[in-house]
Amino acid sequence: MNVLIVGGGGREHALAWCLSQSPRLEKLYCAPGNAGIAKLARCLPVEAEDIEGIAKAVMEHDIGLAVIGPEVPLAMGIVDVLEASGTRVFGPNKKCSQLEASKAFTKDFLARHNIPTAKYKVFTEKEELLKAIGLFGFPMVIKADGLAAGKGVVIAKTAEEAKTAIEQMMGEKVFGAAGERVVVEEFISGVEASVLCFVDENIIVPMESAQDYKRIYDDDEGPNTGGMGAYSPSLLFDEALKKRVMKEILAPTLEGLQIDGLDYKGVLYAGLMITGEGPKVIEFNIRFGDPETQAVLPRLETDLLDVFLAVAENNLAGVDIKWNVKRTVCVVLASDGYPGSYDKGFVIEGLDNMDSDIWVFHAGTALSHICNESLCRTAVVTAGGRVLGVAAAADSHEEARAKAYENAARISFKGAQYRKDIGLLDYLRIK
Ligand code: AMP
Ligand code: GLY
Repeated sequence: MNVLIVGGGGREHALAWCLSQSPRLEKLYCAPGNAGIAKLARCLPVEAEDIEGIAKAVMEHDIGLAVIGPEVPLAMGIVDVLEASGTRVFGPNKKCSQLEASKAFTKDFLARHNIPTAKYKVFTEKEELLKAIGLFGFPMVIKADGLAAGKGVVIAKTAEEAKTAIEQMMGEKVFGAAGERVVVEEFISGVEASVLCFVDENIIVPMESAQDYKRIYDDDEGPNTGGMGAYSPSLLFDEALKKRVMKEILAPTLEGLQIDGLDYKGVLYAGLMITGEGPKVIEFNIRFGDPETQAVLPRLETDLLDVFLAVAENNLAGVDIKWNVKRTVCVVLASDGYPGSYDKGFVIEGLDNMDSDIWVFHAGTALSHICNESLCRTAVVTAGGRVLGVAAAADSHEEARAKAYENAARISFKGAQYRKDIGLLDYLRIK
């Protein structure tokens, strides 16, 4: 079977690596892909959000399954379009994608089905929201309703900060239509963990848990990013917590989807806060997490293509999904300036000097011809904010962490930055 992966980041490279091991795979395509994915798949010059272009590529290359990586094409309704022309797709349809595309939709869903989450109120008028500053006390959590590439959440410590955030979201409209509705939440504290789940209309199956690091600098300082590293399993997830998450969060979520007529198929990512009162949902995403996927998929023992096909055909209950007991750590190398603006095109050195059991998942990379007077060569260059994820697996968490960092240190490009505390912070906190 020919498979098309839509997207071109580290998550999609990990998906490509995992799918390429399937004996059922004939040809793998990726749109648009990156320099790392190009070693495993034929990369097509079609952007992930070009739904018409993707639909054309599906027909042209006789695609038996399309796997959608990022949230934007999902929220645009790519699954509905591809399914309408008879293509099997792994990913939720437009209606179900509201679970990431609208925070108000998700909060109402959680409240309606008694799933633990922070208290909230939805606002559509700026003046009303300004009057509600301090509604649940401080810090005040203020969220743009729609997709904002991970930047739409402000945790305001003071009334002044809250006012500025509200003016930006609803006055200056810095997030465009995503800020037309704003959700205010009670601030909850605890330790965060990501639980990615395979879901079809009949069953929800959690993958192994993961811990993600969203801030750019060590000790969780600086602005939020797409994710600077991850490890699996989350060191908090003992059997008791797993059971609690299933009973209090995942089972009622599946039931809620069924009651509401949301025919969800794909990955549902539950971003959880493990609080003193138990696990609470901070957010849902409608896709694999990045970089959680790079830490979780190296632990999968079952053929991922079998799992995807089963989900697409509503037969997930018939697949026994197995995981290995390894510990994984993934460290992300980013461009100087990220998550703000950054330059691209810097040559990446050291990629051929990795240990054989290390995964280097490419995110923002491209191939480029580098020439001087005497020769031209093809080199891998930086092409995005998050450039690479170096992942290692080992029998112990410490060993995986040491291996990932030893290898990451052998890679260099101008302005490369990475956190030195992936796998460390929470480990110490929990100990
Ligand atoms: P979200 O995009 O909704 O996942 O929010 C981004 C980040 O903001 C989360 O990963 C949390 O660290 C933080 N956050 C979101 N909602 C809350 C809340 N109600 N209380 C405390 N922190 C929150
Ligand atoms: N790592 C966070 C996300 O994928 O949304």
